[in-house]
Amino acid sequence: MKKFRLGVFGIYRGIAYAQATRFSEDVELVAICDKLGDQIEKAKLRLKNDKITYYTTFDEFIKHDMDIVVLANYATEHAPFAIRCLNAGMHVISELEPCQTMKEAVELVNAAEKSGKTYVLAENACYNGSTREMKKLYREGKIGEFLYGECEYIHDNCDSYRYNYGDPDHWRTRMYSTFYCTHSLGPIIHATGLRPVSVTGFELPCTEKTMRRGKRAGLAGVEMVTLENGSIVHSVHGSLPHYSLWWCMHGEKGTMESARFNTQYGNGARIFTNIYEDENVNEDNVVTYLPKMNEGAKNAGHDGADFYVLDNLIDYLKGNKNADIIDIYEAFDMFLPGMFAYISLLKGGVPVEIPDMRDKAAREKWKDYTGCTDPAVAGDMLWPTHHNGTPDIPYQYYEALQKRWKDFSENEKRKLEND
Ligand SMILES: NC(=O)c1ccc[n+]([C@@H]2O[C@H](COP(=O)([O-])OP(=O)(O)OC[C@H]3O[C@@H](n4cnc5c(N)ncnc54)[C@H](O)[C@@H]3O)[C@@H](O)[C@H]2O)c1
Repeated sequence: MKKFRLGVFGIYRGIAYAQATRFSEDVELVAICDKLGDQIEKAKLRLKNDKITYYTTFDEFIKHDMDIVVLANYATEHAPFAIRCLNAGMHVISELEPCQTMKEAVELVNAAEKSGKTYVLAENACYNGSTREMKKLYREGKIGEFLYGECEYIHDNCDSYRYNYGDPDHWRTRMYSTFYCTHSLGPIIHATGLRPVSVTGFELPCTEKTMRRGKRAGLAGVEMVTLENGSIVHSVHGSLPHYSLWWCMHGEKGTMESARFNTQYGNGARIFTNIYEDENVNEDNVVTYLPKMNEGAKNAGHDGADFYVLDNLIDYLKGNKNADIIDIYEAFDMFLPGMFAYISLLKGGVPVEIPDMRDKAAREKWKDYTGCTDPAVAGDMLWPTHHNGTPDIPYQYYEALQKRWKDFSENEKRKLEND
């Protein structure tokens, strides 16, 4: 069978997908695009594959013969590029958040529907050992109907120089606190299949520490989300001082949660369940789940999760309509609670309704809404980066980050050259 030709746009995080293709019999990596020559040089040293064509502009890259494009460019700029790929007849893997404004959201869903091509959100948190098992147990009815959940993605980016390069205009310096909500919320939405209907947003203050890291947003964002069956999810994500990816789901018959804290040290596959098969018997049952992984997954990042994003899309494109993908509508079910939590914050913390992107009339109401924190996109609907206002960050903080990034990047390249 002919292989799917895959291109990667943005080769910083995108390298994970470039490397994942090595372990797939169905995919061939044919093109890579990044505007930074340094990143291209590093990718060449890492991949050592002379069949790949490298580009520095999207306009040239999109002319390459490709079936699937991974968009690993700036998180706030995915929608316009996704629309161009869909219109050009390519399937899209969006790494990660789908758009920056509601106007873009509407345009993206319209383009996906019209193109007939497949768009998937690369929310890899839905594919690690624990979240895959929690979805399976939920769908088997083990905890009964979902009632309440908590989830968190805590990542203290002390190496911010690697994440924003000391560029004051980088998306990570300007994104609002509730923007990046899909690592925490995504797996609960994906397991239950329930649609979020309303949200109330909260955020922590901007602190001196986050400002030294160049960020103008609150330290962390919090969403209290109501799902369509009346259940509630409490989601928190941001730069508190430790690392944690954690999900907890309470149902009418039981509870399950993943191992909390330090999941990067190998606990990502462990879950604990308390399931009461008979409501008169309190029988606790702890399950340790060790996922079966194929070779590709063993070598892929985030406990194999990065591999399964691609693997499931291929499975779907080969005809398995039950493949475990996150389609365009579910992508917005995971993402919109964060965007609307910020709208809630800007309205003084009141609950706000989340539109159902499957409903054309409901989404079209938002087709002119450009509210966001990027002055180049927002027009006259520019949001502050914190609901209390946009803080001024002294330029020397960015200069310090630029220097650290330059040293790190040169060192990284030297190491690759000597490998
Ligand atoms: N799922 C995860 O675990 C995970 C982890 C890290 C990053 N991400 C996602 O990956 C995406 C990229 O983040 P990142 O960490 O790589 O940092 P980044 O956003 O700084 O890097 C994006 C890369 O794309 C390139 N790029 C951007 N616009 C371009 C353009 N117009 N033309 C050519 N090249 C362009 C940049 O030069 C850069 O190398 C983001 O959406 C982020 O959310 C996901």
